[in-house]
Amino acid sequence: MSNKVVVGAQWGDEGKAKITDLLALDADLIIRYAGGCNAGHTVVANGKTFKFHLIPSGILYKGKTCLIGNGTVILPESFETEINELKKENIDLSGLKISPLATITMPWHTEVDGYSEDNAKKGKIGTTKKGIGPTYTDKMARIALKIEDLYSTEALREKLDVILPLKNKQLEKVYGLKTYSKEEVLDLCEKYKKIFEPYVCFEWQKMLEDFKRNGKRILFEGAQGVMLDVDFGTYPYVTSSNPIGGGACTGSGYGPKVIDEVIGVAKAYVTRVGEGPFVTELTDDMGDKIREIGHEFGVTTGRPRRCGWFDAVTMKYACLVGGLTSIALTKIDVFDSFDEIKLCTAYKDKRDGKIYTSYPTNVYIHKYLEPIYETHKGWGEDISNIKRYEDLPQNARKYLERLEEILETPISIVSVGPDREQTIIK
Ligand code: IMP
Repeated sequence: MSNKVVVGAQWGDEGKAKITDLLALDADLIIRYAGGCNAGHTVVANGKTFKFHLIPSGILYKGKTCLIGNGTVILPESFETEINELKKENIDLSGLKISPLATITMPWHTEVDGYSEDNAKKGKIGTTKKGIGPTYTDKMARIALKIEDLYSTEALREKLDVILPLKNKQLEKVYGLKTYSKEEVLDLCEKYKKIFEPYVCFEWQKMLEDFKRNGKRILFEGAQGVMLDVDFGTYPYVTSSNPIGGGACTGSGYGPKVIDEVIGVAKAYVTRVGEGPFVTELTDDMGDKIREIGHEFGVTTGRPRRCGWFDAVTMKYACLVGGLTSIALTKIDVFDSFDEIKLCTAYKDKRDGKIYTSYPTNVYIHKYLEPIYETHKGWGEDISNIKRYEDLPQNARKYLERLEEILETPISIVSVGPDREQTIIK
């Protein structure tokens, strides 16, 4: 196996967990490289359902090393809950490592996130309120705490002398929120130190070198999706990290030449949670039908997901900026009972009839865009037990081959159900 990155190719929730779980089986080191507990991955193993937010689901396999990379942001309380759930199920956590360079989400980050969302009169993002944006903001502003700071009293005290006067002023004057004393934060940090202590990998450089030198197999686990990328997504309706394939480098410590393949996971239709443009969104019965058959409700927030037809315009863009070398197409079985399936190949501007076949990055014009669809015939049969590509009904293969043609990217995996066995490797 070569070294692979798994990225979401749409707006998150594409079924990455299942594909990651499948590929983790052959990996030695699994690295989660971006995001925080805003992500929600559900994995069914040995008849039990596990919900992961930050810890790589590869931890369910014995003998794998799972690293929470430097590119992530970690909410200590959420991490502790996840750990406790795994301990309850007697999962071996000896392979779990945290990069000392990962950033800590402090209470003020979740408070500011919640405040901003609840009080936004305009420009609401619909965040998960897990403090993601404010944590990354402070990381870039160079006023965030890293995991390693918890283990150096000197660094911690010095940093807090810089951070707290600024932060408190902002909390009080801008948001009207509670301020923090140094002693209070030091106490919190003492608690966090204990939570993370068994997992912090201070020898991460040696560890990465060893895995690379010994030709071990590395799997980079992305979170969210390309269209939520802070640089390339539907900005400002995005998350605050880089879910694209390139994020695997900045968020792990490995350079681009370590990566052989980038697999973009996409659903056979599109979903999105939170606010923001979504040209192929279906607000009618068809949208409800897809939501119902596809069980489209959020793992982290429980929110019903917005649903729409497959959008090849954004997907072609995702193939480029996400760096995809192939696609894993999931949930195609959701269409088993559909007479017709639509596929958006271009956008039309209602104002002047202008046609877009390339994704327009200015999202403020998206409200004027309507999808141009091609219609494909359904296959009218249950495909959830099919194991080989050749055994798929002709109409299903036609649909997949048309996607490959438009996207100029091969589909390497087709998922026809939630179980590991319901996967066609092409
Ligand atoms: P944040 O990441 O909590 O700041 O939220 C920013 C946007 O990203 C919102 O639209 C969220 O709904 C969306 N988002 C964040 N994480 C996920 C995810 O794991 N799946 C789908 N959408 C997500």
